[in-house]
Amino acid sequence: MSEIIDLEKARHPDLHDRRVVIAGGTGDVGEGIVRAWLKAGAQVIVPSRTESKVEEFRQVLSDLGQPQALHFVVGSYAGFDEAQAMAERITADHGPVTDVVASIGGWWQGKSLWEVTPEEWQRYFVDMTTAHAATARAWIPRLPRTGSYQLILGGSAVEPVPGASIINMQQAALLMMRRVLSAEASDRHRVAAQILGPVATRARRRVDPNWVSNEEVGLVTVGIAADPHAAHEDYVSMDKSQMLKTLQKLGVYPQ
Ligand SMILES: NC(=O)c1ccc[n+]([C@@H]2O[C@H](COP(=O)([O-])OP(=O)(O)OC[C@H]3O[C@@H](n4cnc5c(N)ncnc54)[C@H](OP(=O)(O)O)[C@@H]3O)[C@@H](O)[C@H]2O)c1
Repeated sequence: MSEIIDLEKARHPDLHDRRVVIAGGTGDVGEGIVRAWLKAGAQVIVPSRTESKVEEFRQVLSDLGQPQALHFVVGSYAGFDEAQAMAERITADHGPVTDVVASIGGWWQGKSLWEVTPEEWQRYFVDMTTAHAATARAWIPRLPRTGSYQLILGGSAVEPVPGASIINMQQAALLMMRRVLSAEASDRHRVAAQILGPVATRARRRVDPNWVSNEEVGLVTVGIAADPHAAHEDYVSMDKSQMLKTLQKLGVYPQ
């Protein structure tokens, strides 16, 4: 039987003194992360490549009204120079950022590795890994010691999924990026990742009760940000029972 996680019982940290950039915040998992940081009282900045995606996302969040603490910045951060320019613009317009959550994504599946086209490889391996590396490169030097840099990853980083080789390799590369960043930047600020099983999101037509939800994923990100000891770790929540343990470990859910 799956665990029940009732977010009404969650202990939401107070992050009024924090300003977070949620890269990929308009996405399926990003939605839960944005909601959690708004609930925690932080200033939330979501960069997006297109105005239309921002408009669509505003509709998704329409139950919240128009939160004063939510800011969108339209522009690309998919390359090194673009990400640098985006970080400079956000810092100039909104002030220093304390935390970054990178939930940049997109799933691909359907072919064996030997059938993959150069276009698929470019889009799902090169472009996405580059967007992550560019985001880390732009923000790591700007974050304060008390801040956090967080990555949202899937179980495909550690378990092969037949037909999804590109995503397997991309996510595994990003998991190693988290680890090498911890090795290189541990004296600068905290770095952490979540490794997740399937996530219940707005895009899903069918949701298994044992899947973690994007709001639980969001609560973990604020839990990591709020806990000065939460550092240099991969928080694995492949299903509800692991998610319950992750939330309890971070002190954001009762034992
Ligand atoms: N969905 C799941 O069930 C699930 C499960 C486990 C782990 N994850 C992980 O969670 C993360 C987010 O997944 P998701 O399902 O939320 O993804 P998603 O909805 O497909 O995309 C997230 C956002 O990433 C941005 N993006 C996509 N491609 C990009 C690129 N090349 N350069 C820059 N930005 C790009 C887009 O933002 P804009 O269009 O606004 O720029 C998009 O809204 C991924 O690392 C994924 O592996 C997801």
